[in-house]
Amino acid sequence: MRFSYDVVIIGAGAAGLMCAIAAGKRGRQVVVLDHARKIAEKIRISGGGRCNFTNRYTSPDAFLSHNPHFMKSALQQYSQHDFVALVEKHGIAYHEKKLGQLFCDESAQDIITMLLDECADAGVTVTSETHIEAVAKTPQGRYEIVSDRGTYDAESLVIASGGLSIPKIGATGFGYDIARQFGLGIRQTSAGLVPLTFAAELLARCKDISGLSVEAEVQCGKTQFAEGLLFTHRGLSGPSILQISSYWDVGQTLSVNLAPAHDMRNVMTDKKRSHPKQDAQTILSEFMPKRLASLFCALHDSAGRLADIPDKKLTILGMAVNDWQVLPNGTEGYRTAEVTLGGVDTDDLSSKTMQARQIDGLYFIGEVVDVTGHLGGYNFQWAWSSGYVAGQYA
Ligand code: FDA
Repeated sequence: MRFSYDVVIIGAGAAGLMCAIAAGKRGRQVVVLDHARKIAEKIRISGGGRCNFTNRYTSPDAFLSHNPHFMKSALQQYSQHDFVALVEKHGIAYHEKKLGQLFCDESAQDIITMLLDECADAGVTVTSETHIEAVAKTPQGRYEIVSDRGTYDAESLVIASGGLSIPKIGATGFGYDIARQFGLGIRQTSAGLVPLTFAAELLARCKDISGLSVEAEVQCGKTQFAEGLLFTHRGLSGPSILQISSYWDVGQTLSVNLAPAHDMRNVMTDKKRSHPKQDAQTILSEFMPKRLASLFCALHDSAGRLADIPDKKLTILGMAVNDWQVLPNGTEGYRTAEVTLGGVDTDDLSSKTMQARQIDGLYFIGEVVDVTGHLGGYNFQWAWSSGYVAGQYA
């Protein structure tokens, strides 16, 4: 069977559906093809089921890319305010959780329903369980997409197939393969917004504090995040760790400040003078959970009464609380990563339209592109913005 459309979009996730709506509203005949049985699965599972659909304070500095300016045009053409207006138009109740992060009050399904309603209004066809076998550009300059449901022919082809994170729900490297096929570059991909793991020795030391969470400042090189940190049975997680993971490379040591508001060197030595009979663990427990305080005292051979611990040891203990040097041995990888860093090289795309610079009619949007947001709704905003922009031109 043969089908003819103006625009074929591959990937019915956040970016693909937004692009379809925008192109459909321009009067283009649009079909969205997805191999998954259930489309938009990442939206459904996002934000703990409530979808952190954007961030009030979205700005280019919340994104990583080889070209730090690339996302500016799309974010300007379709901003967080535009998406919030769409959410409000559909009467979806939402709230700000913290730091500008906007979540649905009820369920992420509200966002999926909204996008599908908008697609229906724009006359877009969305087809799931469609397996793409080949993509080619014809001598007439059209795109031919061969699938197990038939051959689609279109003037424009938009690749919105996402990154490599969570293969269990349908993530593939399809978009990178198409980029390579048409001669576009790929910036090295890796797991981002992902928990970090410890080697056996450090893991064994931390096994009693698995499940504890604290507020911490985590730094890697010049980048720092101050948010929650969670000790897991594999290493570290929590927002501050997910954020820093996008900046971390194997071999790099993290600096973790577990009591950012205090100079713990002074605290410990002052307390020794004012309360010499108190235990070091008791003092540390005023600043962190008891189990963590005990671990730190054990690690630095500083358990027991302050009076019995030499000043030098207390100073080292205090410094370790403010600057715990942690060497993770890896990440949990794409199995649990929220995003994929790297991707289709922005040097080969127009930031205004998302079209491949050298290939008329071929567009890349969303996570497949080398643009990755911080945790907090930025990745969906990139999907909406880049999808909308491509939808204006495809
Ligand atoms: P997305 O992955 O959404 O969609 C790609 C689509 O292409 C999928 O439907 C897939 O089935 C399809 N596809 C893939 N290969 C194909 C092939 N070969 N043929 C046909 N179809 C193919 N972000 C945020 O801002 N706020 C949040 O709350 C969260 N929460 C969150 C939780 C979890 C657990 C994860 C894993 C991720 C998040 N994210 C997030 C990140 C966010 O989900 C992600 O950045 C966007 O979904 C990316 O949108 P895309 O449309 O680019 O890809």
